[in-house]
Amino acid sequence: MSMDSRAFRDALGAFPTGVAVVTAAGTGVHFGITVNSFTSVSLDPPLLLWCMDRRSRRHDMFVHAQGFTVSILGTDHKDVSSRLARPGEHSLEGIALLATELGPPALADSLAVFECLRDQAIEAGDHTILLGRVLRFCQPAASAPLVYYRGRYSALDQNS
Ligand SMILES: Cc1cc2nc3c(=O)[nH]c(=O)nc-3n(C[C@H](O)[C@H](O)[C@H](O)COP(=O)(O)O)c2cc1C
Repeated sequence: MSMDSRAFRDALGAFPTGVAVVTAAGTGVHFGITVNSFTSVSLDPPLLLWCMDRRSRRHDMFVHAQGFTVSILGTDHKDVSSRLARPGEHSLEGIALLATELGPPALADSLAVFECLRDQAIEAGDHTILLGRVLRFCQPAASAPLVYYRGRYSALDQNS
């Protein structure tokens, strides 16, 4: 079956997701990337995953990092999310951060933060699935979650 990849992307976009930033250490400096492929995997042991595009110029750095930190974004993080989704824009300079024991910082005022050791990297088509084992987590802020739906940022309708 041949597949129209634009139509496929559009159909996948019908699934609303949250938005996260993953940070990891490169050579002496930390980098961040905006992702919506984050998902929980296992409670015991505590595992989560996200998927990294193999065409990203930071692919090898994120895949080979010993650990990574996941920050779940709120609606106030929209500009930071857009910035860290721009090609080549992975620097955390000027972004409000929260230190972690693991090393890669979290974004300040995140809804939840997960510090993870790299568990497995699984090649899957044009992406790599990165499984992380959660060492620590916290919930620094209780603000409204940033939502991504049909290629646009959105927010939950808290009244329904
Ligand atoms: C809402 C949103 C979600 C994204 N989710 C992912 C993702 O899960 N995995 C990924 O590799 N890139 C994802 N991206 C794209 C990256 O954030 C970024 O655009 C890309 O890595 C930039 O290219 P570069 O890494 O070559 O500089 C997402 C972008 C947006 C706006």
